[in-house]
Amino acid sequence: SDIYRAGISGARPAVPVHPDALERAARRALSAEAFVYIQGGAGTGRTMDANRAAFARRQVWPRPLRDVSSRDLSTTFLGRTRPTPLLLAPLGVMELAHAQADLAVARAAASLGIPYVLSNQASFPMEQVAHEAPAGPRLFQLYWSSSDELNASLLRRAEASGCEAIVVTLDTHLLGWRTQDLDLAYLPFTRGLGIAQYTSDPVFQQLVRERARASADQPAARVRMTAKTVAAGVSMARKTRGITGAGVRDGLRSPLPRVAVETFLDVFSTPALTWDDLPKARAWTSLPILLKGIVHPDDAVRAMDAGLDGVWVSNHGGRQIDDAVPTLDVLEKIVARVDGRAPVVFDSGVRGGADAFIALAMGATAVAIGRPYAYGLAVAGEDGVREVMRNILAELDITLGLSGHTAIAEVTRDAIRDVP
Ligand code: FNR
Repeated sequence: SDIYRAGISGARPAVPVHPDALERAARRALSAEAFVYIQGGAGTGRTMDANRAAFARRQVWPRPLRDVSSRDLSTTFLGRTRPTPLLLAPLGVMELAHAQADLAVARAAASLGIPYVLSNQASFPMEQVAHEAPAGPRLFQLYWSSSDELNASLLRRAEASGCEAIVVTLDTHLLGWRTQDLDLAYLPFTRGLGIAQYTSDPVFQQLVRERARASADQPAARVRMTAKTVAAGVSMARKTRGITGAGVRDGLRSPLPRVAVETFLDVFSTPALTWDDLPKARAWTSLPILLKGIVHPDDAVRAMDAGLDGVWVSNHGGRQIDDAVPTLDVLEKIVARVDGRAPVVFDSGVRGGADAFIALAMGATAVAIGRPYAYGLAVAGEDGVREVMRNILAELDITLGLSGHTAIAEVTRDAIRDVP
């Protein structure tokens, strides 16, 4: 009702309310490269479309006359009662959207009591984010580095800076085939963007020093290594899509010492990671550990059997594989197999409160929002993030009431139906 009242008083919204208009406003606010990096998906974008189409195959089934005059969006997640069932998904490189990046997001999240999952590829160190919004609930998302010392250090810092849990993202051990980014020969990471968690880390700094020393000893090897690491990401694109060498040269024009960017590219991911490695994380932290990027029910069961603390059903917003399974289509099976043993977070394609309602009805414990808040950040900074999230919450609240419910826990499968 605040939103309606603001409208009556003539106050203009900071961000467009319709999700498509919001996306268009972000496109206008951003450079082509930044917008494409945020908005784009893998291949031809069919996974993104499938994520949305899966929502269109479900419908809310309203039941009037049930006294919905007072409604409660609160939800229990990771042992605490939260004011809402939403999370802010980890988004890397948000300096592309706004100079205040994660700091602005953290302030907005804290003001709403929404847990913010800070990205491994954030633009500010986690300690600075914690300092900016000390009261805000936070989780830390890890990309499992090939350096165990670095993983251990990042998780130690997450714990020390007040994160409640660790989210290990499992779907990005290789970077997806992002056609639009490739067409613009744009690789933000090779410019040294989104690597603040690393450059602020003592273990990473040591790795950089070691590498700098080694390359000073061996200048020829350094040249070869530079060519190898930086060109790796675009060499295929050059071969198959005729991108010129300009992208490679451009990528090397980094605000950071080249050796730091090269070290990052070396340690960023672990394609060799298997289930056998996961127990190591238990030694690195006593925080609960959730696995993000689970889309197969058998993997959800395996996560439970391995003693993990939650699964996060995600296809990375359709950014990793073209023609991947839409997350909403696998959610119910995963919820059934997890069988209440642990929380099941859901994301990919949620654009409004009715979408969140559907995911909750299908058994999600919490629903994470990705691109919409990045668009809010691009259009109006901290206020934009807050307003986008408030709009989603307002629609969720209205949908809850109009469908005949007064609390999130009441929203079960019979609140929706599949399109015949
Ligand atoms: C992401 N995502 C992501 N995931 C993650 O675990 N670590 C990360 O650093 C990032 N970075 C990132 C950047 C950008 C620009 C986008 C759009 C996405 C994936 C993200 O956490 C989430 O899974 C999706 O964004 C959810 O889909 P929607 O809501 O964007 O459709």
